[in-house]
Amino acid sequence: MRVLLIGGGAREHALAARILESPLLTKLYWLPGNAALEGQAEKVTNLDPCSGPEVAAWARAQAVDLAVIGPEAPLLAGVSDCLEEAGIPCFGPSRAAARLEGSKAFAKELMTAWSIPTARYVKVAGPREAAETVARWGAPVVIKADGLAAGKGVTVAMTGEEARQAALTLSGPAVIEEYLEGEELSFMVLAQGRRWLPLVPSRDYKRIGAGDTGPNTGGMGAVASFALLGGDLHEEIGARIIAPVLAAMAEAGTPFKGVLYAGLMLTGDGPKVLEFNARFGDPETQAILQLWQDDLLAVLAEVARGGLPEKLTWSREEALCLVLASGGYPGPFRRGYPIQGLAAAARQVKVYHGGTELRQGQAVTAGGRVLTLAAAAESLALVRERVYAAARTVAFTDMYYRTDIGAGF
Ligand code: AMP
Ligand code: GLY
Repeated sequence: MRVLLIGGGAREHALAARILESPLLTKLYWLPGNAALEGQAEKVTNLDPCSGPEVAAWARAQAVDLAVIGPEAPLLAGVSDCLEEAGIPCFGPSRAAARLEGSKAFAKELMTAWSIPTARYVKVAGPREAAETVARWGAPVVIKADGLAAGKGVTVAMTGEEARQAALTLSGPAVIEEYLEGEELSFMVLAQGRRWLPLVPSRDYKRIGAGDTGPNTGGMGAVASFALLGGDLHEEIGARIIAPVLAAMAEAGTPFKGVLYAGLMLTGDGPKVLEFNARFGDPETQAILQLWQDDLLAVLAEVARGGLPEKLTWSREEALCLVLASGGYPGPFRRGYPIQGLAAAARQVKVYHGGTELRQGQAVTAGGRVLTLAAAAESLALVRERVYAAARTVAFTDMYYRTDIGAGF
């Protein structure tokens, strides 16, 4: 099978590494890719990953049999639609189905219409209306810019003044939301129309600082374990959240295909939806893949072609991943620092490149989230020790990571 993988982060490196293990693979193209997998995947750097017509024409010319889309931007740009129109099965939803992620207002309206538990909210047109609303509601309160912001368009304001500032710096429509208290959980499923299969539950660490402090990021680490979901929560999430969302999308004539990601808050009042994503989570996927035993390429191809496996196979271990970031992220940071110790780390754990590039054969930093280290073991305590030991063998100027991923379980 000739496969085109779109995306250039650590999630895509992790997916690529597994696709490369499949006996079904004959050739892997990676658009645009990063410094990883030199000589194993052919990197495509002269194409815009968000131009559907360009990507589809190129993929046809290379006789690509399957496309896999990692990030949200190409999904929202309709790249999946263009590929399928060109006869190339694609793992990833249509542009219409990806609106579950692309528009918070769309997702909220759907949840209200289908009685899916989520935070109470109002839509506001801009900063003035937002400031009036947060003044009326009081703190804590959550302000979410409509549209894509890579997790950074959200302010969880704990004081009235913080809320007012966040409201006034909006540049367009937004959603003002009730603050939910509880533990967060990433619940991903493989979906095909109304049918779905759960992936192992995971938890992302979204804030930059240990102890969940500081601004939100794209995710600084994750754990994956069946133990994250106790009792009958699994059934409740399926029945009250996943099944109705998929039914809503199918009924609207925009059935969902790919990974549906529900970001949940497990509140005292039951699980509630914080957000939907239309793709694999990053960095959760780097952890989840350590437990997922199937031939990943076979599964992705089956879903892309309109099917769904009967079941998935999982290890009962626990997995953890840790992001090594550029100091300064999620604010401004410098790039171009040489990365040392990659080979030593790779002997201990999986090392996935995120924001890296090659300069004269040397991997250098090229993004905020530079690397993700991942592994699995019998317990979180064990895997935590292994991953942190590996992190200490890696070095680049201003390297930063959270010290508390997987702690406190
Ligand atoms: P989102 O991009 O909507 O997932 O929001 C990013 C992060 O902000 C989430 O992972 C939560 O940690 C936090 N958050 C979002 N909405 C709420 C809410 N209604 N109550 C409390 N925290 C929230
Ligand atoms: N880890 C959060 C996300 O992928 O959006």
